[in-house]
Amino acid sequence: RPVSDAEARAQGRGEGLGLVHRPRRNRKTDWARRLVRETTLTVDDLIWPIFIMNGKGERQAIASMPGVERLSVDEAVRAAEGAAKLKIPALAIFPYVDPTLRDPTGSEALNNNNLVCQALRAIKAEIPEIGLITDVALDPFTSHGHDGLLEEDGRILNDETVDILVRQALVQAEAGADVIAPSDMMDGRVGAIRAGLDAAGFQDVQIMSYAAKYASAFYGPFRDAIGTAKTLSGDKRTYQMDPGNGLEAIREAALDVEEGADMLMVKPGLPYLDIVWRLKEAFGLPTFAYQVSGEYAMIEGAIRNGWVDGDRIVPESLLAFKRAGADGILTYFAPRVAERLAAG
Ligand code: PBG
Repeated sequence: RPVSDAEARAQGRGEGLGLVHRPRRNRKTDWARRLVRETTLTVDDLIWPIFIMNGKGERQAIASMPGVERLSVDEAVRAAEGAAKLKIPALAIFPYVDPTLRDPTGSEALNNNNLVCQALRAIKAEIPEIGLITDVALDPFTSHGHDGLLEEDGRILNDETVDILVRQALVQAEAGADVIAPSDMMDGRVGAIRAGLDAAGFQDVQIMSYAAKYASAFYGPFRDAIGTAKTLSGDKRTYQMDPGNGLEAIREAALDVEEGADMLMVKPGLPYLDIVWRLKEAFGLPTFAYQVSGEYAMIEGAIRNGWVDGDRIVPESLLAFKRAGADGILTYFAPRVAERLAAG
C-alpha cells in the first residue's frame, strides 16, 4: 500500500515510499561499496595454463586463441619468470607434441625426457618458487587424440588406461611436478595415482582432480593448441560427463575425495558455476574452476571486436568464480589480470 510522506514521517519512516530498507544506501559511494564487498579477486587466485612446444626461441600463435601462444621451453622459462614476478602462484603445463611422436598408446607420455618433463626441469631449476601443475591424460600423445587407450570398436579401456596414467604421473613427479592434475576422467585413477605416488616416495605431491569435467564444445580451441582437433576420432562422451548432469558431479567428486584428491576442479567454468557451488558446499575442499579455451576465445574475440570492455569483463568473469565458491581459477587471462591487479 503506497503511503504519503506525512504518513511515513508520522510512522517514523523515511520520505516517499516510506521504505525502511533502502539497499542502495550501501552502494552510494565507492568506499561503502568496497567496505561491503563480499568477494574479491587477488593474484593468489590465479593459475596460468601455458602451451609448450619443441624448439628454441620459438613462439607460435594459436589462431582460435588470439593473444595466446605456444612457447618453446626456453620461452616458457621466461614466461614463468614473469609470472613469478607478478606473484602468480602456479602454472599448468600443456604440451604440443610433435605428431611424429604420437602413437595409439601415447607411449611418449612415459618418456622421462618428453616435452613436459623438459619444461618441468627447466622451470624448476630457474624459478623454484612457482607451483607446477601437470595434466595427466594421454590425449596430447595419442594419434587418435583420446585421453585413454582406444579399442578398434571405439571403446576406451578404463583399467588398462589407469595403469598408464599412474606411470605418466610418476614420470611427471620425478621431473618435478608439484601437483598432478588428472583430466582423463577414467574411473579409479585418483586412487591409483595416489597409491603409485606414495609407493614411489612422492607423498607430498598433491592431486588436483578434474572431478567434474564435462564433454564440452568449449574445449575446441584447446584442441587446436595441442594439435588434436583434426585427429580426434569421435567424441569423449563415454568418459567426460553429460552437460545435463549436476548430481552426477557430486558423485564423481565424492569418489575422488575418497580416493585422496587434495583439490577439486570443475571444467568448463562460467557455464558450470552451479557445479562449482555444489562441490564447494558438499566437500569444502579447495575447489578450482577452469575458464577453458572456448570461454577465453569468446571473451577475447568480443574484446578484440570492441563489443565489450575487456578491462571490466575479464575481472568480472573471474570474480564470478570466487562468488560461486571457487578458491582459484585456471585462466589464460592470468598474466594480464595479474598485471592489472599489480598496477592497482
Ligand atoms: C585434455 C584436456 C582438455 C583440456 C584440458 N585438458 C581437452 C579435452 O578434454 O579434450 C581443455 C582445456 C581448455 O579447453 O582450455 N585431457
